[in-house]
Amino acid sequence: MAGDHAPLYGHACQHSGFLEASDSGQSVDLGIYLSQIASAVMQAHAVEGVRLNLKVDTWPVSINVAMPAGLVVNEVLTNALKHAFVGRSGGTITLHSLVDGEGCQVLVMDDGIGLPPGTTWPTSGRLGALIVESLRKNAGATVAVTTSAGRGLRVAIQFARADAAPEAA
Ligand SMILES: Nc1ncnc2c1ncn2[C@@H]1O[C@H](COP(=O)(O)OP(=O)(O)OP(=O)(O)O)[C@@H](O)[C@H]1O
Ligand SMILES: [Mg+2]
Repeated sequence: MAGDHAPLYGHACQHSGFLEASDSGQSVDLGIYLSQIASAVMQAHAVEGVRLNLKVDTWPVSINVAMPAGLVVNEVLTNALKHAFVGRSGGTITLHSLVDGEGCQVLVMDDGIGLPPGTTWPTSGRLGALIVESLRKNAGATVAVTTSAGRGLRVAIQFARADAAPEAA
């Protein structure tokens, strides 16, 4: 449903002032940006008993990296809140965006029921597949998705330092 996603981007962009013009183009702090998305999604789809485990490093990246990363995180978090804890009293959603010498790993996962048998995410032809593809192409990211029944879904996004730098835009 488009209504699931609509309010978030405009809201985050307009109200938080996280976009800054700099000499080398537009740069966004990935950790702060993803935190803002996570709190907006949690607010929009509040599910009782679901806890967010949030841990981010601040890291300036090109807007061409931040935007698709934010879209994927929005999609995966929304899915976790909608689907992961059906029939359960709650659980934990994890969002980590951690930086080391190599680059940054963004990890979004839940400890819920996992994808139903025969289902994959992203599903080709759906919104999720398009934004994951855009993250790979525009940001040079690798995206790994793993799931197992009863043990949740895990999406790991890896950016190389050089690909994500604001001046690489
Ligand atoms: N974290 C999750 N835990 C369990 N099942 C999931 C999870 N994420 C997705 N799914 C399953 O995968 C299916 C496909 O997800 P997808 O996001 O493509 O569609 P949707 O969420 O049903 O619809 P839309 O995203 O268009 O609102 C979901 O219907 C759900 O069954
Ligand atoms: Mg969905």
